[in-house]
Amino acid sequence: MNPQTVHLIAAARPNFMKVAPLFHALKATDWAKPVLVHTGQHYDHNMSDAILGDLGIPTTDFHLGVGSGSHAEQTGKVMIAYEELCLDARPDWTVVVGDVNSTAACAMVGAKLWIPVVHLEAGLRSGDRSMPEEINRLVTDAISDLLWTPSADADENLLREGVARDKIEMVGNIMIDSFEMLRDRIEAAGAREGLGLETGGYALVTLHRPSNVDSAESLQPIVEELILTARRMPVVFVAHPRTINALQRFGLHEALSAAPALELLEPVPYIHFMNIVAGAGLVITDSGGLQEETTYLDIPCLTLRENTERPITVAQGTNRLVRATNLAEHVDKVLAGDWPSSICPPSWDGNTAHRAAESLRRRAAV
Ligand code: UD1
Repeated sequence: MNPQTVHLIAAARPNFMKVAPLFHALKATDWAKPVLVHTGQHYDHNMSDAILGDLGIPTTDFHLGVGSGSHAEQTGKVMIAYEELCLDARPDWTVVVGDVNSTAACAMVGAKLWIPVVHLEAGLRSGDRSMPEEINRLVTDAISDLLWTPSADADENLLREGVARDKIEMVGNIMIDSFEMLRDRIEAAGAREGLGLETGGYALVTLHRPSNVDSAESLQPIVEELILTARRMPVVFVAHPRTINALQRFGLHEALSAAPALELLEPVPYIHFMNIVAGAGLVITDSGGLQEETTYLDIPCLTLRENTERPITVAQGTNRLVRATNLAEHVDKVLAGDWPSSICPPSWDGNTAHRAAESLRRRAAV
Protein backbone atom coordinates (compact mmCIF):
# COMPACT_ATOMS: atom_id res chain seq x y z
CA MET A 1 0.00 0.00 0.00
CA ASN A 2 1.20 3.52 -0.81
CA PRO A 3 1.91 5.73 2.18
CA GLN A 4 -0.75 8.33 2.98
CA THR A 5 0.21 11.85 1.94
CA VAL A 6 -0.15 14.31 4.81
CA HIS A 7 0.08 18.00 4.00
CA LEU A 8 1.46 19.97 6.92
CA ILE A 9 0.64 23.66 6.50
CA ALA A 10 3.17 26.17 7.83
CA ALA A 11 2.78 29.89 7.32
CA ALA A 12 4.04 32.13 10.06
CA ARG A 13 6.75 32.01 12.70
CA PRO A 14 4.77 30.27 15.48
CA ASN A 15 3.68 27.52 13.07
CA PHE A 16 7.14 26.13 12.41
CA MET A 17 7.75 24.83 15.94
CA LYS A 18 4.32 23.14 15.84
CA VAL A 19 4.79 21.50 12.45
CA ALA A 20 8.40 20.31 12.79
CA PRO A 21 7.95 17.63 15.50
CA LEU A 22 4.98 16.16 13.62
CA PHE A 23 6.92 16.23 10.35
CA HIS A 24 9.74 14.22 11.95
CA ALA A 25 7.33 11.80 13.68
CA LEU A 26 5.42 11.06 10.46
CA LYS A 27 8.60 10.77 8.42
CA ALA A 28 9.78 8.01 10.76
CA THR A 29 6.74 5.85 9.92
CA ASP A 30 6.24 3.57 6.93
CA TRP A 31 2.58 4.54 6.42
CA ALA A 32 2.74 8.33 6.13
CA LYS A 33 4.49 10.72 3.79
CA PRO A 34 4.60 14.21 5.33
CA VAL A 35 4.69 17.05 2.80
CA LEU A 36 5.52 20.51 4.11
CA VAL A 37 3.51 23.28 2.46
CA HIS A 38 4.78 26.78 3.30
CA THR A 39 2.23 29.44 2.40
CA GLY A 40 4.83 32.22 2.56
CA GLN A 41 2.86 34.40 5.02
CA HIS A 42 6.16 35.02 6.81
CA TYR A 43 9.10 35.40 4.46
CA ASP A 44 11.97 37.22 6.25
CA HIS A 45 14.91 34.87 6.78
CA ASN A 46 14.79 35.09 10.59
CA MET A 47 10.98 34.74 10.65
CA SER A 48 10.99 31.63 8.48
CA ASP A 49 13.90 29.76 6.88
CA ALA A 50 16.36 30.20 9.76
CA ILE A 51 13.75 28.76 12.16
CA LEU A 52 12.96 25.84 9.87
CA GLY A 53 16.69 25.17 9.59
CA ASP A 54 17.02 25.13 13.40
CA LEU A 55 14.16 22.63 13.54
CA GLY A 56 15.84 20.24 11.10
CA ILE A 57 13.70 21.12 8.06
CA PRO A 58 16.07 22.79 5.61
CA THR A 59 13.68 22.77 2.63
CA THR A 60 9.92 22.87 2.13
CA ASP A 61 8.14 20.71 -0.44
CA PHE A 62 5.85 23.48 -1.72
CA HIS A 63 6.08 27.23 -1.27
CA LEU A 64 2.94 29.23 -2.10
CA GLY A 65 4.69 32.62 -1.79
CA VAL A 66 1.65 34.67 -0.70
CA GLY A 67 3.51 37.29 1.39
CA SER A 68 1.87 40.15 3.30
CA GLY A 69 -1.45 41.86 2.63
CA SER A 70 -4.76 42.74 4.24
CA HIS A 71 -6.56 39.88 5.98
CA ALA A 72 -8.89 39.21 3.06
CA GLU A 73 -6.06 39.52 0.55
CA GLN A 74 -3.76 37.17 2.47
CA THR A 75 -6.53 34.63 3.21
CA GLY A 76 -7.80 34.76 -0.37
CA LYS A 77 -4.36 34.36 -1.92
CA VAL A 78 -3.63 31.33 0.29
CA MET A 79 -6.97 29.74 -0.65
CA ILE A 80 -6.40 30.20 -4.38
CA ALA A 81 -2.84 28.88 -4.26
CA TYR A 82 -3.60 25.96 -1.94
CA GLU A 83 -6.65 24.88 -3.94
CA GLU A 84 -4.51 24.74 -7.08
CA LEU A 85 -1.97 22.61 -5.28
CA CYS A 86 -4.63 20.21 -3.94
CA LEU A 87 -6.29 19.85 -7.33
CA ASP A 88 -2.92 19.01 -8.81
CA ALA A 89 -1.67 16.69 -6.05
CA ARG A 90 -4.52 15.73 -3.74
CA PRO A 91 -3.31 14.81 -0.24
CA ASP A 92 -4.98 12.18 1.95
CA TRP A 93 -4.93 14.61 4.90
CA THR A 94 -4.43 18.32 5.47
CA VAL A 95 -3.05 19.26 8.87
CA VAL A 96 -3.29 22.93 9.83
CA VAL A 97 -1.78 24.36 13.02
CA GLY A 98 -2.40 27.35 15.28
CA ASP A 99 -4.58 30.31 14.41
CA VAL A 100 -3.04 32.38 11.62
CA ASN A 101 -4.80 33.44 8.41
CA SER A 102 -3.27 30.52 6.48
CA THR A 103 -4.70 28.06 9.05
CA ALA A 104 -8.29 29.04 8.33
CA ALA A 105 -7.63 29.45 4.59
CA CYS A 106 -6.20 25.95 4.08
CA ALA A 107 -8.84 24.38 6.35
CA MET A 108 -11.54 25.88 4.14
CA VAL A 109 -9.87 24.62 0.97
CA GLY A 110 -9.49 21.10 2.37
CA ALA A 111 -13.05 20.96 3.71
CA LYS A 112 -14.54 22.06 0.38
CA LEU A 113 -12.50 19.50 -1.55
CA TRP A 114 -13.52 16.76 0.92
CA ILE A 115 -9.96 16.28 2.08
CA PRO A 116 -10.02 15.36 5.79
CA VAL A 117 -8.73 18.37 7.76
CA VAL A 118 -6.95 18.05 11.10
CA HIS A 119 -6.42 21.05 13.37
CA LEU A 120 -3.44 20.88 15.68
CA GLU A 121 -3.88 23.25 18.67
CA ALA A 122 -7.67 23.16 18.40
CA GLY A 123 -10.17 24.46 20.94
CA LEU A 124 -8.33 27.50 22.30
CA ARG A 125 -10.63 30.48 22.84
CA SER A 126 -9.98 33.98 24.12
CA GLY A 127 -13.66 34.87 23.79
CA ASP A 128 -12.49 38.06 22.06
CA ARG A 129 -13.75 38.27 18.48
CA SER A 130 -11.89 41.52 17.85
CA MET A 131 -8.74 39.39 17.51
CA PRO A 132 -8.19 38.04 13.97
CA GLU A 133 -6.74 34.86 15.49
CA GLU A 134 -10.01 34.15 17.37
CA ILE A 135 -11.95 34.28 14.09
CA ASN A 136 -9.40 31.92 12.54
CA ARG A 137 -9.77 29.51 15.48
CA LEU A 138 -13.58 29.49 15.30
CA VAL A 139 -13.66 28.96 11.54
CA THR A 140 -10.99 26.25 11.56
CA ASP A 141 -12.48 24.25 14.43
CA ALA A 142 -16.00 24.42 12.99
CA ILE A 143 -14.95 22.69 9.75
CA SER A 144 -12.12 20.36 10.82
CA ASP A 145 -12.68 16.61 10.88
CA LEU A 146 -10.23 15.90 13.68
CA LEU A 147 -9.34 18.29 16.50
CA TRP A 148 -6.09 17.81 18.39
CA THR A 149 -6.16 19.87 21.58
CA PRO A 150 -3.35 20.94 23.93
CA SER A 151 -5.31 20.91 27.20
CA ALA A 152 -8.61 19.92 28.81
CA ASP A 153 -10.05 23.46 28.70
CA ALA A 154 -9.82 23.30 24.90
CA ASP A 155 -11.82 20.03 24.86
CA GLU A 156 -14.48 21.71 26.98
CA ASN A 157 -14.68 24.71 24.63
CA LEU A 158 -15.22 22.43 21.65
CA LEU A 159 -17.84 20.31 23.37
CA ARG A 160 -19.68 23.48 24.42
CA GLU A 161 -19.72 24.57 20.77
CA GLY A 162 -21.31 21.27 19.78
CA VAL A 163 -18.30 19.46 18.32
CA ALA A 164 -18.78 15.68 18.47
CA ARG A 165 -16.75 14.02 21.25
CA ASP A 166 -15.19 11.50 18.88
CA LYS A 167 -13.60 14.23 16.75
CA ILE A 168 -11.61 15.56 19.73
CA GLU A 169 -8.32 14.13 20.98
CA MET A 170 -6.15 15.77 23.61
CA VAL A 171 -2.61 15.23 22.36
CA GLY A 172 -0.81 17.90 24.44
CA ASN A 173 1.34 20.88 23.55
CA ILE A 174 3.54 20.25 20.54
CA MET A 175 5.74 23.33 21.05
CA ILE A 176 7.20 21.57 24.07
CA ASP A 177 8.30 18.80 21.68
CA SER A 178 10.33 21.34 19.69
CA PHE A 179 11.96 22.64 22.86
CA GLU A 180 12.80 19.16 24.13
CA MET A 181 14.02 18.02 20.70
CA LEU A 182 16.54 20.89 20.71
CA ARG A 183 17.12 21.32 24.46
CA ASP A 184 20.85 20.48 24.34
CA ARG A 185 21.52 22.84 21.47
CA ILE A 186 19.40 25.57 23.09
CA GLU A 187 21.36 25.25 26.33
CA ALA A 188 24.68 25.31 24.48
CA ALA A 189 23.77 28.24 22.18
CA GLY A 190 25.40 31.06 24.17
CA ALA A 191 23.07 33.78 22.86
CA ARG A 192 22.54 35.38 26.25
CA GLU A 193 26.26 35.34 27.05
CA GLY A 194 26.83 36.99 23.66
CA LEU A 195 24.54 39.81 24.78
CA GLY A 196 26.30 40.07 28.16
CA LEU A 197 23.20 38.90 30.04
CA GLU A 198 23.32 37.17 33.39
CA THR A 199 21.14 34.05 33.62
CA GLY A 200 17.99 34.82 35.62
CA GLY A 201 18.80 38.53 35.81
CA TYR A 202 17.06 40.10 32.81
CA ALA A 203 13.67 40.58 31.21
CA LEU A 204 12.85 39.43 27.69
CA VAL A 205 10.20 41.41 25.81
CA THR A 206 8.28 40.52 22.63
CA LEU A 207 5.25 42.38 21.27
CA HIS A 208 3.38 42.19 17.99
CA ARG A 209 -0.41 42.12 18.59
CA PRO A 210 -2.26 44.76 16.58
CA SER A 211 -4.02 45.86 19.81
CA ASN A 212 -0.63 46.77 21.34
CA VAL A 213 1.45 47.98 18.43
CA ASP A 214 -0.82 49.35 15.72
CA SER A 215 -1.59 52.71 17.40
CA ALA A 216 0.62 55.26 19.13
CA GLU A 217 -1.95 55.46 21.97
CA SER A 218 -1.33 51.83 22.90
CA LEU A 219 2.36 51.51 22.01
CA GLN A 220 3.73 54.69 23.60
CA PRO A 221 2.73 53.91 27.23
CA ILE A 222 4.16 50.41 26.84
CA VAL A 223 7.46 51.79 25.51
CA GLU A 224 7.62 54.25 28.43
CA GLU A 225 7.08 51.43 30.93
CA LEU A 226 9.73 49.27 29.27
CA ILE A 227 12.26 52.10 29.52
CA LEU A 228 11.43 52.37 33.26
CA THR A 229 11.70 48.59 33.68
CA ALA A 230 15.21 48.73 32.18
CA ARG A 231 16.26 50.95 35.11
CA ARG A 232 15.53 48.02 37.42
CA MET A 233 16.75 45.07 35.34
CA PRO A 234 18.34 44.74 31.88
CA VAL A 235 15.75 44.34 29.13
CA VAL A 236 16.11 42.56 25.78
CA PHE A 237 13.34 43.47 23.38
CA VAL A 238 13.20 41.09 20.40
CA ALA A 239 10.91 42.97 18.05
CA HIS A 240 8.69 41.60 15.28
CA PRO A 241 8.92 43.41 11.89
CA ARG A 242 5.41 44.77 12.46
CA THR A 243 6.58 46.27 15.77
CA ILE A 244 9.80 47.73 14.35
CA ASN A 245 7.71 49.43 11.64
CA ALA A 246 5.27 50.77 14.23
CA LEU A 247 8.08 52.08 16.48
CA GLN A 248 9.52 53.96 13.52
CA ARG A 249 6.15 55.25 12.36
CA PHE A 250 5.24 56.62 15.79
CA GLY A 251 8.70 58.14 16.43
CA LEU A 252 9.40 55.78 19.36
CA HIS A 253 12.29 53.84 17.88
CA GLU A 254 15.01 56.31 18.81
CA ALA A 255 14.02 56.65 22.48
CA LEU A 256 13.87 52.89 22.84
CA SER A 257 17.21 52.20 21.12
CA ALA A 258 18.90 54.93 23.18
CA ALA A 259 17.54 53.74 26.56
CA PRO A 260 20.25 52.47 28.92
CA ALA A 261 20.22 48.71 29.71
CA LEU A 262 17.68 48.08 26.95
CA GLU A 263 18.70 46.09 23.88
CA LEU A 264 16.37 46.30 20.87
CA LEU A 265 16.88 43.34 18.53
CA GLU A 266 15.39 42.16 15.24
CA PRO A 267 13.80 38.65 15.19
CA VAL A 268 16.16 35.91 16.37
CA PRO A 269 16.04 32.28 15.08
CA TYR A 270 14.55 29.57 17.31
CA ILE A 271 17.58 28.06 19.05
CA HIS A 272 19.13 31.40 19.97
CA PHE A 273 15.77 32.85 20.90
CA MET A 274 14.94 29.97 23.24
CA ASN A 275 18.38 30.31 24.81
CA ILE A 276 17.41 33.91 25.70
CA VAL A 277 13.95 32.82 26.92
CA ALA A 278 15.27 29.97 29.06
CA GLY A 279 17.70 32.29 30.90
CA ALA A 280 15.26 35.13 31.49
CA GLY A 281 14.13 36.10 34.99
CA LEU A 282 10.97 37.60 33.51
CA VAL A 283 9.18 37.61 30.16
CA ILE A 284 6.91 40.47 29.06
CA THR A 285 4.93 39.55 25.96
CA ASP A 286 1.69 39.37 24.01
CA SER A 287 2.63 36.12 22.24
CA GLY A 288 0.56 32.97 22.68
CA GLY A 289 3.53 30.62 22.43
CA LEU A 290 5.59 32.43 25.06
CA GLN A 291 2.75 32.22 27.59
CA GLU A 292 3.05 28.44 27.25
CA GLU A 293 6.83 28.18 27.06
CA THR A 294 7.25 30.27 30.24
CA THR A 295 4.75 28.09 32.09
CA TYR A 296 6.68 25.02 30.96
CA LEU A 297 10.01 26.56 31.99
CA ASP A 298 8.60 28.07 35.22
CA ILE A 299 9.54 31.64 34.34
CA PRO A 300 7.31 34.57 35.43
CA CYS A 301 5.37 35.92 32.44
CA LEU A 302 3.50 39.22 32.16
CA THR A 303 1.12 39.19 29.22
CA LEU A 304 0.10 42.60 27.92
CA ARG A 305 -3.41 41.57 26.89
CA GLU A 306 -6.98 41.85 28.13
CA ASN A 307 -7.59 38.11 27.73
CA THR A 308 -5.87 34.89 26.79
CA GLU A 309 -6.90 31.82 24.81
CA ARG A 310 -4.45 29.92 27.01
CA PRO A 311 -6.08 30.25 30.47
CA ILE A 312 -4.27 27.17 31.78
CA THR A 313 -1.06 29.27 31.83
CA VAL A 314 -2.75 31.57 34.35
CA ALA A 315 -4.66 28.93 36.33
CA GLN A 316 -1.72 26.53 36.65
CA GLY A 317 1.23 28.48 35.36
CA THR A 318 3.36 31.57 35.80
CA ASN A 319 1.37 33.83 33.48
CA ARG A 320 -0.56 36.96 34.51
CA LEU A 321 -2.52 39.36 32.32
CA VAL A 322 -1.36 42.95 32.78
CA ARG A 323 -1.71 46.45 31.31
CA ALA A 324 0.94 49.12 30.74
CA THR A 325 -0.51 50.97 33.75
CA ASN A 326 0.15 48.14 36.21
CA LEU A 327 3.23 46.61 34.61
CA ALA A 328 5.64 48.19 37.15
CA GLU A 329 3.68 46.78 40.08
CA HIS A 330 3.99 43.27 38.66
CA VAL A 331 7.68 43.71 37.84
CA ASP A 332 8.16 44.65 41.54
CA LYS A 333 6.51 41.42 42.61
CA VAL A 334 8.70 39.33 40.33
CA LEU A 335 11.84 41.10 41.56
CA ALA A 336 10.73 40.46 45.16
CA GLY A 337 10.38 36.73 44.35
CA ASP A 338 6.65 36.97 45.05
CA TRP A 339 5.51 34.81 42.13
CA PRO A 340 3.87 31.37 41.97
CA SER A 341 5.65 28.35 40.50
CA SER A 342 3.91 26.53 37.72
CA ILE A 343 2.34 23.10 37.68
CA CYS A 344 3.13 21.68 34.26
CA PRO A 345 -0.14 20.81 32.46
CA PRO A 346 -0.68 17.13 31.58
CA SER A 347 0.81 15.98 28.26
CA TRP A 348 3.14 18.95 27.90
CA ASP A 349 5.93 16.42 27.88
CA GLY A 350 7.69 16.32 24.51
CA ASN A 351 5.62 13.36 23.23
CA THR A 352 2.76 15.20 21.57
CA ALA A 353 3.94 14.54 18.01
CA HIS A 354 4.05 10.82 18.75
CA ARG A 355 0.48 10.89 20.11
CA ALA A 356 -0.69 12.92 17.12
CA ALA A 357 0.94 10.54 14.64
CA GLU A 358 -0.66 7.56 16.42
CA SER A 359 -4.05 9.28 16.32
CA LEU A 360 -3.70 9.82 12.58
CA ARG A 361 -2.60 6.21 12.03
CA ARG A 362 -5.70 4.94 13.87
CA ARG A 363 -7.99 7.24 11.89
CA ALA A 364 -6.30 6.35 8.61
CA ALA A 365 -6.77 2.69 9.51
CA VAL A 366 -3.31 1.73 8.29
C1 UD1 B 1 0.85 36.64 12.31
C2 UD1 B 1 -0.40 35.97 12.85
C3 UD1 B 1 -0.35 35.95 14.37
C4 UD1 B 1 0.95 35.35 14.86
C5 UD1 B 1 2.11 36.13 14.25
C6 UD1 B 1 3.45 35.59 14.71
C7 UD1 B 1 -2.47 36.24 11.53
C8 UD1 B 1 -3.78 36.93 11.51
N1 UD1 B 1 -1.62 36.68 12.47
O1 UD1 B 1 0.77 38.00 12.70
O2 UD1 B 1 -1.42 35.17 14.85
O3 UD1 B 1 1.01 35.44 16.27
O4 UD1 B 1 2.00 36.02 12.82
O5 UD1 B 1 4.51 36.30 14.24
O6 UD1 B 1 -2.26 35.35 10.74
N2 UD1 B 1 6.35 40.99 8.03
C9 UD1 B 1 7.66 41.09 7.62
N3 UD1 B 1 8.35 39.93 7.44
C10 UD1 B 1 7.80 38.71 7.64
C11 UD1 B 1 6.46 38.64 8.06
C12 UD1 B 1 5.75 39.79 8.26
O7 UD1 B 1 8.19 42.15 7.43
O8 UD1 B 1 8.49 37.69 7.46
C13 UD1 B 1 5.57 42.23 8.23
C14 UD1 B 1 4.45 42.32 7.20
O9 UD1 B 1 4.85 42.98 6.08
C15 UD1 B 1 3.39 43.05 7.95
C16 UD1 B 1 3.61 42.67 9.38
O10 UD1 B 1 4.92 42.16 9.49
O11 UD1 B 1 3.57 44.42 7.84
C17 UD1 B 1 2.59 41.69 9.88
O12 UD1 B 1 2.69 40.41 9.24
P1 UD1 B 1 1.46 39.37 9.18
O13 UD1 B 1 1.92 38.03 8.79
O14 UD1 B 1 0.35 39.98 8.41
O15 UD1 B 1 0.91 39.30 10.65
P2 UD1 B 1 1.68 39.10 12.01
O16 UD1 B 1 1.54 40.35 12.78
O17 UD1 B 1 3.05 38.55 11.82
